[in-house]
Amino acid sequence: MDIKRITGAIPSEAEVVARVEALMGRMSLEEKIGQLTQIGGLSFFPGPKPEDIIRKGGAGSVLWINDTKQFNVLQKIAVEESPSKIPLLFALDVIHGYRTIFPVPLAMASSWDPSVAERAQTVAAREARAAGLHWTFGPMLDIARDARWGRIVEGAGEDPCLGAAMAAAQVRGFQGPYLGAPDRVVACAKHFAGYGAADGGRDYDPVYLPEDQLRNVYFPPFEAAVKAGVGTFMSAYMDLNDVPASGNHFLLRDVLRGEWGFQGFVVSDALAVGNLVTQGFARDGRDAAFRALSAGVDMDMASSTYPQHLAGLVEDGTLMLADIDAAVRPILATKVRMGLFEQPYVDESKLAQVVALPEHRKEARLAAQRSMVLLRNEGQLLPLAKSLRNLAVIGPLADSMEATEGSWMVFGHTPAAVTVVEGIRAKLPGAKVEYAPGPEIRRDIGSFFDDMPGAAKKTPQTPEQAEAAFQTAVATARGADLVVMVLGENADMAGEFASRASLDLPGRQEELLKAVVALGKPVVLVLLNGRPLSIVWAAENVPAILEAWEPGSEGGHAIADILFGDVNPGGKLPVTFPRKASHAPLYYARNLTHSPEGGWMYRSRYWDGPTTPLYPFGFGLSYTTFSITNLKVAAPQVTVGSSVAVTADVTNTGSAVGDEVVQLYIHQKAGSDSRPMRELKGFERLTLKPGETKTVTFLLGPAELGYWSTNTGKWAQEAEAFDVWVGADSLATLHADLAVVR
Ligand code: NOJ
Repeated sequence: MDIKRITGAIPSEAEVVARVEALMGRMSLEEKIGQLTQIGGLSFFPGPKPEDIIRKGGAGSVLWINDTKQFNVLQKIAVEESPSKIPLLFALDVIHGYRTIFPVPLAMASSWDPSVAERAQTVAAREARAAGLHWTFGPMLDIARDARWGRIVEGAGEDPCLGAAMAAAQVRGFQGPYLGAPDRVVACAKHFAGYGAADGGRDYDPVYLPEDQLRNVYFPPFEAAVKAGVGTFMSAYMDLNDVPASGNHFLLRDVLRGEWGFQGFVVSDALAVGNLVTQGFARDGRDAAFRALSAGVDMDMASSTYPQHLAGLVEDGTLMLADIDAAVRPILATKVRMGLFEQPYVDESKLAQVVALPEHRKEARLAAQRSMVLLRNEGQLLPLAKSLRNLAVIGPLADSMEATEGSWMVFGHTPAAVTVVEGIRAKLPGAKVEYAPGPEIRRDIGSFFDDMPGAAKKTPQTPEQAEAAFQTAVATARGADLVVMVLGENADMAGEFASRASLDLPGRQEELLKAVVALGKPVVLVLLNGRPLSIVWAAENVPAILEAWEPGSEGGHAIADILFGDVNPGGKLPVTFPRKASHAPLYYARNLTHSPEGGWMYRSRYWDGPTTPLYPFGFGLSYTTFSITNLKVAAPQVTVGSSVAVTADVTNTGSAVGDEVVQLYIHQKAGSDSRPMRELKGFERLTLKPGETKTVTFLLGPAELGYWSTNTGKWAQEAEAFDVWVGADSLATLHADLAVVR
């Protein structure tokens, strides 16, 4: 039976099932295993050519190509020449934009505005789909509390409440209202789970997380993605409590499918199935295939372990055909829902029209504006006057398109960002804006990506060249009335394979900053970076600091918009900024101890310096001021299972229109387990005119007041006393009491 054409209609659940079963009925075991196989489309990979694998029905999906014409070539082979003519799913990492690049996910989380992330991923999906992609490996939902871990840049930071809101928003953006919606792609919640807690922040290292940490902190964004209808999951690389996440029955079967009812399919991370052997878990490839499939990995990303071993495992009875079928069904169902049987090809002329849409650049600029965080503004140095006539823009990132667009570019992307120098020049057309990069910054140990075919090779500066560049930068600054320093990290300094042992500004950047500040001119520091940095000296000596993160294609314009007051910054930190890398992991939602911070015994956890954050979670300034008052809990008591409203008034007490992010924190004072001293349970970003007051309302119910308890081994909402705070960051002092009663 041929697949029915239903162009234009959304297939019902029953229709999807019927179509999948019709396909299953005519597929050989080899073809079924082909559907469980994702192959790399890169031509330099050893082994058979993708075309030959596809022709035999040996692949269900292809990743790591980004070539619209080639998609159609491969798809034609799949739908015309392969035995069951099943179309391929083309997949790629589209993390924060396809051609129009948005701020990195950590930056978008700084907006504390889920609609920013939803709109960004809507645009990313539209462009990616027009290019011929069906599936993105995003959103990345790993909670990260250790800034040394390079992949902190890909997620929403340290907090499960903010992380869950960003997770759901990104799924909605990528997928639209239903799987298969026009101009959208299938999303993939990754990396399930715990990857962000790698020992020492070292990428891929083992993770040890007790169940209560998993359930209370690391799982919520993933569960939110399931609730938002995410189509696929990716299993993580690392060992979780000594069981690799890609062979982890508890994660993939008990929790994901059993408890959360996930109906989509799970793909391993790249090579992760084969690596079960490398990790010292599986005996050999055969054992790896058996254990990954049994644990719930449906699709093997690029390790070829499934195609090599699954058939043998079925033939000798180690696996049942039903095990294979169960993994194939959700993959076929995804292809049916995506409409690939009706429209397997991409219109090759569409991308050019779609990427040129001015509204995409507009969205990217807006997202960047909303993502930036003002960390310091002594003496109201910012906003700068547009009447300035003589500026210097200094630093190795000031004119770097790569650093502006940030980490995780899609394959083959050519950076095309508006840099900070360009943004400032565009804002002040008549002014003299001199630029000097200073010494270049480089990783001490290069990246694996540097060795990829086609990667640009650059000869490092000699010490003499670096010194000359340093002196030129200082001289350029000396000749200006005001200096904008643009410092931070290159794009390859955060992301995968990009953990650091230090959180200092790399290279000679701080030295350059000190030399420029010593000139006695007004200095504004703009940071372009993918993780919190320990900028202790700058925090005390540079009057104005704007955390711009890696702001994307329109980054330079958005930065100029903020520096010159066309936009009032309103972002807040989604991660704690530690004073030193050695303080990591440092996060606000810690438990109290027998000697709580602020108590009579307490001085600092270390005797060689304060352990308080440099900037706390939730922190960010504005060009105006706000007061948050009149905190009211609707009733002093709430019964287990019901909800109570918490309200507070926020007033713009300054003279500019601005945004405040009002945040609600709670603390359960006693119970079966100790609970964190503060946990975020609600937030809202509001725009207020000078003098305007708005009331914010949050609801506290069982979802907010309950938790998973180690002592009782289950979810509980306990009749206990709670602290409630509402304020502008995680140090909020406006307090109320709440009692939960039976
Ligand atoms: C490895 C990374 O861990 C994952 O995030 C990515 O999606 C895959 N490679 C595919 O590129």
